[in-house]
Amino acid sequence: MAVEIREIAQKFERISAHSHIRGLGLDENLRAKDVADGLVGQKKAREAAGIIVRLIKEGKMAGRGILIAGPPGTGKTAIAVAISKELGKDIPFVHVSASEFYSSEMKKTEALIQAMRKAIGVRIRETRVVLEGEVVGLDYNMVPNPYNPTQKIPESATLTLATTDEQKTFSVSGRLALQFLYQGIEVGDVIVIDKETGRVAKVGRSKRAKKKFDIGDYDLVDVPKGRIEKEKEFTYVITLHDLDEANARRGGIFSLFEPASREIDNEIREAVDEQVKKWVEEGRAELVPGVLFIDETHLMDIELFAFMNRAMESEMAPIIILASNRGFAKIRGTDMVAPHGIPPDLLDRLLIITTEPYSEDEIRTIIEIRAAESGIMLSKDALDKLTELGVKNSLRYAIQLLAPAHELAKLRNSGKVELEDVERASQLFVDVSQSSEYLKRWEEKMLGM
Ligand SMILES: Nc1ncnc2c1ncn2[C@@H]1O[C@H](COP(=O)(O)OP(=O)(O)OP(=O)(O)O)[C@@H](O)[C@H]1O
Ligand SMILES: [Mg+2]
Repeated sequence: MAVEIREIAQKFERISAHSHIRGLGLDENLRAKDVADGLVGQKKAREAAGIIVRLIKEGKMAGRGILIAGPPGTGKTAIAVAISKELGKDIPFVHVSASEFYSSEMKKTEALIQAMRKAIGVRIRETRVVLEGEVVGLDYNMVPNPYNPTQKIPESATLTLATTDEQKTFSVSGRLALQFLYQGIEVGDVIVIDKETGRVAKVGRSKRAKKKFDIGDYDLVDVPKGRIEKEKEFTYVITLHDLDEANARRGGIFSLFEPASREIDNEIREAVDEQVKKWVEEGRAELVPGVLFIDETHLMDIELFAFMNRAMESEMAPIIILASNRGFAKIRGTDMVAPHGIPPDLLDRLLIITTEPYSEDEIRTIIEIRAAESGIMLSKDALDKLTELGVKNSLRYAIQLLAPAHELAKLRNSGKVELEDVERASQLFVDVSQSSEYLKRWEEKMLGM
């Protein structure tokens, strides 16, 4: 039973545009299939990404950087999402937009270093003495709550655990008994109690005790074998940032009142690094360098770039993946023009993957996949029209029209989107170039800066 703490890296709305993506769609020789795992075309970039995933899994990418560069709507973010799917849940993947570094809550460099440390996992192995068995008897000794006499709380309990080989009865404290109550532990459950910390975990329901008409979402498990008291190895992955926060919180009573998002002292991070290095040397832990994906990289300024460049030199640096749709652009905070608006010294050490505009057929297939993912039926004419808009305007525009066109179809009491729905949706919602044109036309009448 592994306890796992993990970051909820992706915000729902940002990921939802890519919910159809399940992976990179490669075969065992890392060659891209035409359409697979929700991805279409863009084969060179997908194959390059496949090699990166392999290198990350082998631990050969730590502290290195990758840039995914290409025009808007060519699948840069989609490929990053696919990489995270391929990495699986044991390797941290943190997805941020560079705009998130600029907030009023903390310095931008602090936000960046926290994001980097969320992207580094520490796999910790621990051997602990536990009591494990099926609960065959549980009796509470209830007394009135001293603070609220109308309520009863357990003062102690008698617990009987059994394995296939032995049975033992324990007298447990009120604190532990309260945990049993809160977790709804009852006779027939298989549980594990950490002897030192008294933490209780329910493993599942014993197969032998399964009630006949019971329905519940628990797992059915075998009754444990051997002794009740035993040593068990636990493995779990936590991030450096989790450790930083846990250590920062130990800073006395005042830390109780501080909000969750705040700056962490460098001394704390240094102490955590020291501790982790010690664990690694003792063979109790392993570093798992994950990925920090920074989308919309052009929003980073020279200070952030410089800070990141330096941080990437550290022993404990994640793999950084940047995405940019800029050509030659000013590096934010300077007057210097550079490729992708990225300082040349950083650019120099990045592996670059490029994405290319899609063919008409590819656009059609992507729209079909998105429609299927959203449960939207399209007539052939509607799909033709959306494809045309995808080619003429942009892929993203065509995809965005799916939802309003679907609403318009429903207003006609039809489950299927027809040509007229797409046409109407495209009249109601303009794309970026149309809206810029509109701005130019009405410039004098709109409020300026
Ligand atoms: N090859 C592909 N296969 C399937 N879906 C794709 C593919 N490429 C892009 N998409 C989908 O098309 C939409 C636009 O792509 P995406 O957001 O990845 O573009 P981008 O290159 O990141 O653009 P920007 O530069 O504007 O950030 C998304 O919904 C994405 O999931
Ligand atoms: Mg993007």
